[in-house]
Amino acid sequence: MDSLQVTGGVRLAGEVRASGAKNAALPILAASLLADGPVTIGNVPHLRDVTTMIGLLGRMGAGVTVGDRMQVEVEARGITEPFAPYELVRTMRASILVLGPLLARHGEARVSLPGGCAIGARPVDLHVAGLEALGAEVSIESGYIHARARRLEGARIVLETVTVTGTENLMMAATLARGRTVIENAAREPEVVDLAGCLQAMGAAITGAGTDTIVIEGRERLAGCSYEVLPDRIETGTFLVAGAITGGCVRVRGTRPDHLDAVLGKLREAGAAVTTGVDWIEVDMQGRRPLAVDIRTAPYPAFPTDMQAQFAALDAVAEGVGTIVETVFENRYMHLLELRRLGAEVSLDGRTAVIRGVERLSGAPVMATDLRASASLVLAGLVAEGTTDIARIYHIDRGYERFEEKLGQLGAVIRRVPGRA
Ligand code: UD1
Repeated sequence: MDSLQVTGGVRLAGEVRASGAKNAALPILAASLLADGPVTIGNVPHLRDVTTMIGLLGRMGAGVTVGDRMQVEVEARGITEPFAPYELVRTMRASILVLGPLLARHGEARVSLPGGCAIGARPVDLHVAGLEALGAEVSIESGYIHARARRLEGARIVLETVTVTGTENLMMAATLARGRTVIENAAREPEVVDLAGCLQAMGAAITGAGTDTIVIEGRERLAGCSYEVLPDRIETGTFLVAGAITGGCVRVRGTRPDHLDAVLGKLREAGAAVTTGVDWIEVDMQGRRPLAVDIRTAPYPAFPTDMQAQFAALDAVAEGVGTIVETVFENRYMHLLELRRLGAEVSLDGRTAVIRGVERLSGAPVMATDLRASASLVLAGLVAEGTTDIARIYHIDRGYERFEEKLGQLGAVIRRVPGRA
């Protein structure tokens, strides 16, 4: 397995370009299952999770071609097997996103339950209950969700908890249901809005995406379309923190500043000068050490759980004490134990972490445990004395496109060390 070797101490400076958003590309790829014609998707990030989703579509019988610069064309008319096996769902929870489209389009779907996950229980009960509300018959057999419906019927669904992929699954299913579906307490994430944009391009009738009430008028069929995935706000935020943590100046181009309000607010609190244009964001720390910030994660537009670990790294070297409260996932603190190995002073009590900033971290071998945790270890490595070796970076490859190359463009001393197969 490959590892990353980071030598700390360089103040990052320069520009990088944001990639397409993983969490928008995955549901949009799944949505292509609904269309009667080819769906061409642009700005798809080249990531392991995307490759997994493309593999899943292909395995089910869809024709998938990947063109220049990751333009992906999916022709899903020939689906022969509406089935997502455990081997794939196990490696990527977001495979659950094929459940709604398969059921709506083919009247049947068998998708493996995702199983345990490193960042908490993460059940899919709300996906299942929502599909049942739309008239599906769902049974759980040998670890598989087996859903059937001749034709889904529109319904009013009140989600008990705000769930991103749950909202997406139900919105996709409802596009081909008979009549009107109303999803209340829907997730408002920009990726939900992007998926709605793609479904609308296919001819779906959706209003309210981006608010907590989404209304879908079901259609008889959806057509093929062309669509561009929006920029990745979490990748953007990660590079901005890389600038701030090293006291540097980093500009991210090709991004959406309006999707990062909560994150930019925290970077300003940390003492960074933040400037934005229509499609760029610059963070300038002017050589200063960041100030500690308090973070409380919650669904969009509040501070994203997917940026929590990166800010934990920032707090680890900041001036003062920062408190982090994780309200979305109960067990998303694995990175804190690894940050401790680099010298961070962290105490954890339930869902609250208190981080007392230290003047310097020192390089050590650490292990990536999940996607964003891995990014936080790389960020910490950028400011640690000496060399930090981060093992198990396949997690990073799941969600960051050319991570070490982009950090290298900003001056970071980072290299991938190929492991034994
Ligand atoms: C998505 C994102 C992930 C992000 C998360 C929260 C994708 C592919 N992944 O994950 O990067 O960290 O949103 O912003 O978009 N829950 C239930 N029952 C359900 C579904 C969810 O109890 O049926 C709970 C979860 O355990 C969690 C909370 O709801 O506590 C939010 O999870 P959810 O929004 O569903 O996360 P994902 O969609 O899996």
